[in-house]
Amino acid sequence: MLTNKPKTLWMAGVALALAAGTAPAAEPAAGGKPADPIQQMMQNYKPELKQKIMKLTPEMRATVKKLHDGHTRKSQQLTLRQIMHEILSDYQSIAAGIATDNAEQAADSARRLANHRIPKGGLFPYFPLEMVNDADMGVLPTMNEAVEGSALKLAEAAEKGDMATAAARLSDIMTGCVACHQKFRASPPGASNLLLKK
Ligand code: HEC
Repeated sequence: MLTNKPKTLWMAGVALALAAGTAPAAEPAAGGKPADPIQQMMQNYKPELKQKIMKLTPEMRATVKKLHDGHTRKSQQLTLRQIMHEILSDYQSIAAGIATDNAEQAADSARRLANHRIPKGGLFPYFPLEMVNDADMGVLPTMNEAVEGSALKLAEAAEKGDMATAAARLSDIMTGCVACHQKFRASPPGASNLLLKK
């Protein structure tokens, strides 16, 4: 069972690594879209989740909206867990591309990972309900920069033929995966509640 201490250390580590990184989180210019996708998704949320979202600050809702808007592929069927498995496949494909000096495979797979699908109903329903609050959701941009920001940097490095830098970015991506899992995902995954000893 993990204590809070290593979690906190991980988070601090990621924040530091990112602060020391090259580019700050880019702000993609949003072209005034008419419908608010979060409002639309909320129509399908149970009241307890809606209440949590209503309590988020407008800034936090805007941040999460930006994370959703940054992804062009929105699934009507898939759960976050299914998408995570797809992300893992993309990650493995990046590694294969780097290992075999196939810059094109590495770059394409990295861009695919960065533009992963958004699950049915958006991200909120897949986080533990008690973590849908400003403080916990506030780490999402950092996680996003670690995973998707590093993936885009990896793609650029691979395209320049700089496979050593691409390999280093691969480890930055995994640092983001691990940090987010330590914070938001039950551990170990798939634990049985039919065992006497956990
Ligand atoms: C924004 C936070 C976040 C990030 C970043 C993230 N994950 Fe996840 N991941 C989750 C959550 C939450 C779950 C549990 C989903 C569920 O079971 O409903 C999960 C589950 C998974 C699973 C399913 C098996 C398991 O361990 O539960 C895989 C595989 C996975 N993630 C791979 C990855 C990989 C690879 C990366 C990095 C490239 C990554 N994830 C980045 C939040 C994240």
